[in-house]
Amino acid sequence: MNYTIITGASKGIGRELAIQYAKNGNNLILVARSLPLLEDLKSELILKYNIAIHLLELDLTTDNAINILVNYCTTNNLNIENLVNNAGFGDFSSFKESDINKIKSMLDLNMRVLTELTYVFLKEIIANKGRIMLLASTAAFLPIPGMAVYAATKAYVRSFGVAVNEEIKSTGASITVICPGPTATEFQEVAELDKSKFVSSKLTSAKELAVFAFKKTQQRQVIVTQGLSNAITVNIVPRILAYADCAKILKNIFKEK
Ligand SMILES: NC(=O)c1ccc[n+]([C@@H]2O[C@H](COP(=O)([O-])OP(=O)(O)OC[C@H]3O[C@@H](n4cnc5c(N)ncnc54)[C@H](OP(=O)(O)O)[C@@H]3O)[C@@H](O)[C@H]2O)c1
Repeated sequence: MNYTIITGASKGIGRELAIQYAKNGNNLILVARSLPLLEDLKSELILKYNIAIHLLELDLTTDNAINILVNYCTTNNLNIENLVNNAGFGDFSSFKESDINKIKSMLDLNMRVLTELTYVFLKEIIANKGRIMLLASTAAFLPIPGMAVYAATKAYVRSFGVAVNEEIKSTGASITVICPGPTATEFQEVAELDKSKFVSSKLTSAKELAVFAFKKTQQRQVIVTQGLSNAITVNIVPRILAYADCAKILKNIFKEK
């Protein structure tokens, strides 16, 4: 049976993506550290949809995590058609005051884990003409003082995803890079964005974002943003302002309270 792996499926955007994939008849392998939350989601989905669901309680940043996931799929004969690289987090802090262990963990989860998961499942996904969804951010397009490392990790995701998609597109498989703007999840709390003056006038709901992201990934679009203000942020701002000037403006928007 074919499966879709979703990382960070216990909460927020990942949880809503799991609902979208389930609704559309995909069997699921849901990965996160919070097993009780994954179990609640599984109970909810099993009642509504005729699909198989496997849960894996895993901190993806630990040394052996990728091997554990690959071995789990092999041992249980789970054929991987789609991969959703969603798990990720941000941190609001001036770089010099930041916690280096948190920074290392962010680099690891947002980039190394995403890259390695894409690598280990890519041949199988190509064989199935499947799809990979990568969660980047509107931050992928701009240097953000106060979130310098986070924005840089998402710039990596954007560049990596678009380039590998170009390498594989003749196979019938695809990579879609989703670039959400501010979305109502625990992300802001985890990133301690309450310390910043940045206020988003309108947060997109995680459900709305997931419906949009699922649709665009099914259509095999390469890079997508949602809504007019996010489209302006990523398409127009970096074109009319010098890169360094974007950082100056964003420094004011994101400065500490
Ligand atoms: N919300 C936004 O405003 C926004 C905007 C742009 C992009 N994004 C991106 O969207 C993605 C999802 O974020 P979200 O907003 O849904 O955040 P969230 O509500 O904080 O959810 C993050 C998910 O990642 C999982 N996770 C975190 N660390 C993990 C680890 N070490 N191992 C395994 N799973 C881990 C969490 O589960 P456990 O805690 O159970 O492990 C949770 O399921 C991220 O890549 C984020 O950068 C978010």
